[in-house]
Amino acid sequence: MNQQIELLRFTTAGSVDDGKSTLIGRMLYDSKAIFADQMEAVEQASASRGDDEVDLALLTDGLRAEREQKITIDVAYRYFATPKRKFIIADTPGHTQYTRNMVTGASTAELAIILIDARKGVLTQSKRHGFLATLLRIPHLVVAVNKMDLVDYDQAVYDEIVQDYAEFARKLNVQDVTYIPLSALRGDNVVDKSERMPWYDGSTLLHHLENVNVGASLNNVDFRFPVQYVIRPHQNFRGYAGQVASGRIAQGEEVVILPSGLSSKVKSIVTAEGELAAANVGDSIVLTLEDEIDISRGDMIVRTHNLPQKSNRVDATICWMSEEPLRPRGTYLVQHTTRLVNGIVSELNYKIDVDTMHRETAETLTLNEIGRIQLTTTQPLFYDRYQINRATGGFILIDPATNNTVAAGMIRGKSRNVDDLLAGEVEAASARPKSRDVVWEQEGISLAEREERNGHKAAVLWFTGLSGSGKSTIAKKLEQTLFARGVHTMYLDGDNLRHGLNGDLGFSDADRQENIRRAAELTRLSYAHGNVTLACFISPFAADRRFARSLVPDGRFLEIFVKCDLDVVKRRDTKGLYAKALAGEIDNFTGISSPYEEPENAELVVETDIQSVDEIVAQIIDTLQVQGILPEDGT
Ligand code: ADX
Repeated sequence: MNQQIELLRFTTAGSVDDGKSTLIGRMLYDSKAIFADQMEAVEQASASRGDDEVDLALLTDGLRAEREQKITIDVAYRYFATPKRKFIIADTPGHTQYTRNMVTGASTAELAIILIDARKGVLTQSKRHGFLATLLRIPHLVVAVNKMDLVDYDQAVYDEIVQDYAEFARKLNVQDVTYIPLSALRGDNVVDKSERMPWYDGSTLLHHLENVNVGASLNNVDFRFPVQYVIRPHQNFRGYAGQVASGRIAQGEEVVILPSGLSSKVKSIVTAEGELAAANVGDSIVLTLEDEIDISRGDMIVRTHNLPQKSNRVDATICWMSEEPLRPRGTYLVQHTTRLVNGIVSELNYKIDVDTMHRETAETLTLNEIGRIQLTTTQPLFYDRYQINRATGGFILIDPATNNTVAAGMIRGKSRNVDDLLAGEVEAASARPKSRDVVWEQEGISLAEREERNGHKAAVLWFTGLSGSGKSTIAKKLEQTLFARGVHTMYLDGDNLRHGLNGDLGFSDADRQENIRRAAELTRLSYAHGNVTLACFISPFAADRRFARSLVPDGRFLEIFVKCDLDVVKRRDTKGLYAKALAGEIDNFTGISSPYEEPENAELVVETDIQSVDEIVAQIIDTLQVQGILPEDGT
């Protein structure tokens, strides 16, 4: 198969009679993505039953039996391809435990199709599917309003459903919802555009599936390799087999093995097709290491400077998938990546009413209910928050007595106690308590001594502005210039800090506040060491910038507003992030879906859409001289 073609994994949600099988059958049939003999077999089977139309559900259901053997946790996977894309449908055999199927099938899906029967309208279950899809962080939703043929292709029926669902979707944290009116049975708007709904001018379902942006939800940064098997064919070879759950690894890179904490280097990356120099998320590989280390199934190999979280108490959202209700404080097996540990649901904090999205107190969870729990495990889990890593943030609970999967969960973070939960989700960084027993340790060398030797004063240059406005470009050029003049500098950058020190933070208002608090504390330390510190952070909130300013003496903090018209940065879009934000694939994006408070008292305003980088650098150097931070002549 052509490896170059992009792959889209999607899932379908709907109960049996919503027409899922027919829809998939229709897609395979009309796009001619099935073999001629299969098509013939289905046509004959339909004819022999006296049907005058081909029963497309047979295409999907008929192929199922042979697959059933290989099914893991109730999910049948189906593949098909068009010239534009390959598709994997994570779908379910036809029974009604839709939630369970959706959760298990959807964890790697990038798109969910929610089927709504045009005659029935928006049901609780349609909302549940949407909510689950967002909990699972499936970036794209398609609401397929099916069976339009049974409502005479009436636009009013469709419009009402769209309106109902859109009202609900507003309460969800999802931006990319596409609505398509169709009839799977008659083939309207599935592969071919319907002539019976001239009032609809959007794309057909297949066209949408072929063109939706994929890959954005994959974590390409944090290398996580849960070991599935240890391969030891003979004395001289020891390899660790598994699938790269996220991130990337290259030959020669340093790795740490968890839980032992021992480190080594990657000797080789072996695949069925031979050795690779590097492997990416999704690749099935065998790793060999430079050192002989005792590693077993369930261990995780990661990069030295990018470790997952470790805890045996986690805060999680779970979806209950068993007829047997949750046993509070009962023991379950926790399957997390390739590891199996024992755990108890130590607290059930609340459940969520999907119709209203309200939290309700609960004693237990029953089939399909969604709740927030605290999970305690006998051994620590090495995890990432589900929000940043679906592979290492998800888990399932298994009933040890029956071996049935009873819940699917998403880790939100380290366990919190009830008081924290009640106190609200956001802790104000400014309210962070300082330990009374910690005093500020005086540096052995005073700032004056450092400045004396350096031949310039210490300062903080705080660059603020939209993503892509040019903060880093200017700061880097400025640093080179300063460096050439012998100035002691330190360069701090949002993107870089977020890889390490601030790797646990996202882009909610609270996380940004904390991001800037930490960054500001770093500039304070750097300042104390006599550096001219260049700090580049969007830092969209005036209050956070004021905090940074408060940490160094007056006159030594220069706020530099890197101003650029939003339309210009959108057009430049050097990192491609605006396109994604506009497509609804990145939440809380500054300038698009999160505010930027323009500085009112900045020491300097530079305009990158008008001025050149060199001009700006010269302007800043000039200001530093005027302020007495740099000597006039430039040593
Ligand atoms: S800040 O708002 O918290 O100050 P910071 O400067 O650390 O942001 O990081 C911004 C960088 O993160 C951007 O340059 C961009 O590359 C990336 N980024 C990812 N998601 C977002 C988002 N939702 N909003 C803004 N930037 C984002």
